[in-house]
Amino acid sequence: MAQQTAKKRRKDRARTSFMLLMLSVMLVFAFGLIIGKQNMNTPQPVEAMPQHTVEQQPQEPATEAETIPEETVPETTPEFHQATSFQSAEPHVYLRINHQKQLNLICQPDFSLADAIYGVSDENIAMVDEFGMITGVSRGECIVSVFCGAETLRIPVTVRELTVQDGCTYVDGILIANKSISLPEDYDPGMLPETADAFAELQAAAAEQGLNIYQGSGYRSYQYQISCYNSLVAAYGEEQANRISAKPGHSEHQTGYTVDCNTINESFINTPEGQWLDQHCHEYGFIIRYPEGKEDITGYEYECWHIRYVGVEVATEIYQQGLTLEEYLDVVSIDNETSPAETFPAEDVPGQFQEEEIPYPEEITPDDAYYPEETTVQETVPAVQETLPEDAEIVDAPLEAP
Ligand code: DAL
Ligand code: ZN
Repeated sequence: MAQQTAKKRRKDRARTSFMLLMLSVMLVFAFGLIIGKQNMNTPQPVEAMPQHTVEQQPQEPATEAETIPEETVPETTPEFHQATSFQSAEPHVYLRINHQKQLNLICQPDFSLADAIYGVSDENIAMVDEFGMITGVSRGECIVSVFCGAETLRIPVTVRELTVQDGCTYVDGILIANKSISLPEDYDPGMLPETADAFAELQAAAAEQGLNIYQGSGYRSYQYQISCYNSLVAAYGEEQANRISAKPGHSEHQTGYTVDCNTINESFINTPEGQWLDQHCHEYGFIIRYPEGKEDITGYEYECWHIRYVGVEVATEIYQQGLTLEEYLDVVSIDNETSPAETFPAEDVPGQFQEEEIPYPEEITPDDAYYPEETTVQETVPAVQETLPEDAEIVDAPLEAP
């Protein structure tokens, strides 16, 4: 009996030891998995890169893209996301269908990108040629990879689609009005509820910080913009007016997505309200539409008071990357291609703006020039030369043969 009990005890001890051993093995395995995963997710430090821009290759249209088979690309290794010897000047490339952009790579001195190989994750979205020229193919997202030496750089690419509906131009659904893209004269949505709601939220958040942000100007109809523009021409002359005011049909205020905050004056940025707006408006879906230093892209002087509603996600992306709406939507080139603003007031062109026939207040001062009283202004067919066909549903024209 005692022998049997001792045998049973030995058996129990052996079973317990075996169970403990198995448990230890499992723990070691699980620990190993966690550590491995953490290493995969740890971003690699990015060394400060001297500003040495690689000479751009000739701007030829994308020929055959280097096809790097997906399977040769490691899925997720830390060095895969960020090369240390070279970087892209643009952390994210935005371009429209049938448009092209040259990758702008910056590399450390003594590092050559001569042997770089370019690849793309989805050729149905974009193509990249042997010189790093990217061409948008269809709307969507993909990754362009640059392989050089033992390093790989991945750059996200968004390909956008431009459409025109009822004379309004949208890029990926975002309505755009700028120097060269106009709105129809009868486009008259008033201040849109989403803008008003977001602005109310912004005001409430500012008020919590003891700041008073109020609407200086909101929705402006085509007709009212005639008064605004002409008042500014009267006050400052045409050349300066064109730097600070949109011509009728080209003002963002006509979109219903725009608010001018507080005082329409550059000194607003030096106030606590101006500073807060600059740093926080994206959290409520707004962007500073005409940023400082981007005058050559927007065509307008810096306006620290003028905000445009685009939604929180888009506004945050634009803010974080320091872009203009033109860059984000890849419509900068439309300005370069057509620049109709330059031809706008040509007197002899029928249907063009004829300022001298539109009355404006005699005693206008620069300070109140922005918002003249909304009077009945005699309009003299101020139809702006359209740069895009009015009724076309999609106007991204195919690339011309090289
Ligand atoms: N001040 C801006 C450019 C406008 O007139 O819409
Ligand atoms: Zn404005």
